[in-house]
Amino acid sequence: MDKKRYTVTAALPYANGPLHLGHVAGVYLPADIFVRFLRHKGHDVAFICGSDEHGAAITLRAKKEGVTPQEIVDKYYTILADSFKKFDVSFDIFHRTSEPIHRETAQDFFKTLHNKGVFTQKTNQQYFDEKYEQFLADRYITGECPKCGFAEAYGDQCEKCGSALSPNDLIRPISKLSGDAPVLRETTHWFLPMERHEDWLKDWIQNGKLEEKQIHDPKKWRKQVVGQCMSWIDGGLQPRAMTRDLDWGIPVPLENAEGKVLYVWLDAPIGYISATKAWAVEQQKNWKNYWTGDTELVHFIGKDNIVFHALIFPILLKEHGDFILPKNVPASEFLNLEGDKFSTSRNWAVWLHEYLERHPNKTDELKYTLTAIAPESRDSEFTWNGFQSRVNNELADVLGNFVNRALVLTNKYFDGAVPELGTVEPEDQRVIKAIGEVSPLVEEKLYNYKIREAQGEVMSLARIGNRYLAETEPWKLIKTDKERVKTILNIALQITANLSILLDPFLPSTARKMRTFLDLEAFNWSQCGKKDILPAGHHTNKPSILFEKIDDAFVEKEQDLLRASQQVEESNHETQKETVAFDDFLKLDIRVGEILSAKKVKKADKLLELNVDTGLDQRTIVSGIAQHFAPEDIIGKKVSVLMNLPPRKIRGVVSNGMLLMGEDKDGKLTFMSPECDLENGATIR
Ligand code: 2FM
Ligand code: ZN
Repeated sequence: MDKKRYTVTAALPYANGPLHLGHVAGVYLPADIFVRFLRHKGHDVAFICGSDEHGAAITLRAKKEGVTPQEIVDKYYTILADSFKKFDVSFDIFHRTSEPIHRETAQDFFKTLHNKGVFTQKTNQQYFDEKYEQFLADRYITGECPKCGFAEAYGDQCEKCGSALSPNDLIRPISKLSGDAPVLRETTHWFLPMERHEDWLKDWIQNGKLEEKQIHDPKKWRKQVVGQCMSWIDGGLQPRAMTRDLDWGIPVPLENAEGKVLYVWLDAPIGYISATKAWAVEQQKNWKNYWTGDTELVHFIGKDNIVFHALIFPILLKEHGDFILPKNVPASEFLNLEGDKFSTSRNWAVWLHEYLERHPNKTDELKYTLTAIAPESRDSEFTWNGFQSRVNNELADVLGNFVNRALVLTNKYFDGAVPELGTVEPEDQRVIKAIGEVSPLVEEKLYNYKIREAQGEVMSLARIGNRYLAETEPWKLIKTDKERVKTILNIALQITANLSILLDPFLPSTARKMRTFLDLEAFNWSQCGKKDILPAGHHTNKPSILFEKIDDAFVEKEQDLLRASQQVEESNHETQKETVAFDDFLKLDIRVGEILSAKKVKKADKLLELNVDTGLDQRTIVSGIAQHFAPEDIIGKKVSVLMNLPPRKIRGVVSNGMLLMGEDKDGKLTFMSPECDLENGATIR
């Protein structure tokens, strides 16, 4: 295979929440495996990702958390970047669409298209929330889907049936801001007349044909991607607004466009280009090489992003004229979790950053399982029982057992030196043949985006090796035929060496460990398939266990965690906050106190000034409970006091701590009086 240049992108996750295993299995892990493989093959690759920091996804989240959109994107950018790093996803860059270079790139892109007359400007009636004084596009508005009747379809898409919608299609629309029915108001926007592009899109999607440089092999596109695109096209493409009336986003770079920003689905894919630019500056490369010429552009995405990457962005790229079109858009189907859909709102999810915190040394176990069940061609399901059986029955019992046996026996019988390959018997020949057959198969699958099957092929070699040792039983033969054992272990070690290379894209940390056992630091992908990677006499090291088995308690604990966090959401209470370090928890000094006196704070409806006996002292605490309790009713109440907050002046009174109260979902407060005889000053932990 000739050396090529690739630009591989993974969908920019919205910086409005963490990643769950569905995102990982569908997009980031397969993209990472593909890229690691390409690099091993010597291709020139730019692996591009970043966070998507504009659009309603961000502003609605900010509203929900009661903070600014900037605070939201800063918080989640950090969580996302950190999880990718810990999970060892090998992006060349993880950029942000809030960076100045992106704003400039997106605005230039828009201006180029505008100057070419690509957009049509239209004034029409759009839904408006009178209370919030805001137009309601995309996710700001929900209502009944006209196609499938789903009650909570968004203004841009129905998540149930996948139909593309516009807010005016919704039946009984409701504003996500106020919860009220919106009114119609006039506004002006720039539209992309997608209907003008139906003909070439049809040919390009189905037959891979366009201009000479934009040819792709239609057989390599996943059926469901072609199917979804064709059903959009056959349903008739509609003009789509490329601008929005919002105060969060990239300003439309035109005069008379005040208060208007670029549509997030115009802005975000251009993020791939701006991230490439930022990376190229760091690396002193020419970014244009990665977006022109023979470069293969590949977008890894989830199926809800197909229309944006396989229709809208290609139209924009083609109209712009300076860029290649994607060679492939490997979109995944959805991953389900323990019999149900992943759901952020119901908190039915395994969050990647939390998994990594609980199991920092089990990244490859998760990678393996997610690839083995990757939803490439149909929806699939993650269960903790399934995870246990993949780890125990496949990683530990097959791969781990095989590698361990091969190395332990070599160390035991030959002091770690690779023994000579002696006479090759037919049973050896079969295994040697298999070594040669696996890598071309793995490569073929990977070049065709069949990542799941590719991993299966690598594991089949581990299975063959494991069976070979089980059948030849060198631990018995050693007593009678040491020469034969030499040959068997030589072959077993060559299989191990092959696996340590072939597994590298899939399980990088395991493969690295295996190469340490084999003392195979310098290696090359082109060694795959060879039966003499390790010369006789080459020294190997004692192995350690590659995979610990997962016991039933592990599974039960994970299942309980999942259920518990869901119950919180279902019962309408706040979701659980982020985990805090135990040491941070220990810093809180909470004691039993008793209210000695209470009076209202002047000109403050909500505040009471309390004198509290904390056992250590009598101190003043100002508490926002005046609307819930009369001062005379709370004298003598026992209460939990957070002692070590810094003193704070509230309405002229210095408060030295805080009362801890119970608050129900309607905001009603209750004393959490310790139902016992604890003396004032007793600690609570
Ligand atoms: O669906 C999403 O999470 C989007 N933020 C994906 C954007 S991909 C690209 F276009 F940037
Ligand atoms: Zn629908």
